Amino acid sequence: MSPEPTRISRETLVVHGSSRSDQRTGALVPPLILSATFAHGNQEQLAYSRDRNPTWELLEAAVAQLEGASGAVAFASGMAGIAAALDLLPVGAEVVVAQDAYTGTRDLLAHLSTTGRLRARRVDATAPAALEEIGGAAMVWLESMGNPLLSIPDLRAWAAAAHGQGAILAVDNTLATPLLCRPLELGADLVAHSASKHLGGHSDLMLGVVAGQDPELLSRLRQQRTRQGGCPGQLEAWLALRGMRTLAVRLSRQCQTAGFLAGALVGTSRVREVHYPGLPTHPQHELAEAQLDGGFGAMLALELEVGAVAAEQVCTSTRIWTNATSLGSVESLLERRSRWAGEEYLPEGLIRLSCGIENQEDLLEDLGQALAQVGAGPLA
Ligand SMILES: Cc1ncc(COP(=O)(O)O)c(C=O)c1O
Repeated sequence: MSPEPTRISRETLVVHGSSRSDQRTGALVPPLILSATFAHGNQEQLAYSRDRNPTWELLEAAVAQLEGASGAVAFASGMAGIAAALDLLPVGAEVVVAQDAYTGTRDLLAHLSTTGRLRARRVDATAPAALEEIGGAAMVWLESMGNPLLSIPDLRAWAAAAHGQGAILAVDNTLATPLLCRPLELGADLVAHSASKHLGGHSDLMLGVVAGQDPELLSRLRQQRTRQGGCPGQLEAWLALRGMRTLAVRLSRQCQTAGFLAGALVGTSRVREVHYPGLPTHPQHELAEAQLDGGFGAMLALELEVGAVAAEQVCTSTRIWTNATSLGSVESLLERRSRWAGEEYLPEGLIRLSCGIENQEDLLEDLGQALAQVGAGPLA
């Protein structure tokens, strides 16, 4: 099946977009081509699996279709893709980056700044005044949904401002996925994913994808991957294809659970703030309603009126939630975010919750008993 993206919903595309049933065998499941090398003279002109591999290419086509991109390039991890995208820029170029961008992205930019490769300027991407600060930058790097406070930048406004100054807009769409947000439709030039999160969806692979419209940028990304060797493993690409087939059902349930938990925790004992874009109190709630399609995401953050020790106690007292970093998988995870270098700007009692697909009442009860141990939450 080769569905037409404009006429078929993305819920259907995720199931069928990646599967081209094999003409010869009728197999519905895409083939896993592990071969590192290919006999010279083959029909597909394949040569070596650091350059091209048919299993990656199925994944790239599936992500490109969902993002409304002309093409996509898969990498060994989300960070390998982000590094390749930044490597498109000339030496000394300036990158304007959202101040709450993923710590790994900010760390890479800080490193590239110390070596003189690039310069980075952090801005509050939700502040209209920041749109005036692009002058001189070659790239703007945003996230369609920042975390852990779930900030939502106005992507259409950023695209117009970036292009007005001759800059590229690149958007990390990991948290929202192309089911909730399509940055390219809003004017972005590149969209990046850590497919280790929602796209894979099972905490069992590391993979990144960068998609875009401009064939020249895509070709340079492919060349960079071939030269530097940041190519994905064949098995990981295959696992991501399998994971993506259930993305719509997983994400829909995760968004439902996140909304349910946010509503249940608001105003409870020693909960200073619940950060979730689906709540009317969220500073970008209206923008989130306009820019996101079909849900407000699977993550929320709980700002407790407790210190670091008590917040850590909550994270280690749950039975269903696992105290671990990451997001977008079938298992629910929580962590005290400011325990990480680069995240010290966050309140020490802030807990990030990444909802999985377990029963939402079970998740609330488990969280409630852990919060109650420090006098917080609905059961305290
Ligand atoms: C928003 C975001 N982008 C990129 C990355 C990096 O992806 P990876 O861990 O696959 O390298 C992460 C990882 O946590 C992330 O959360």
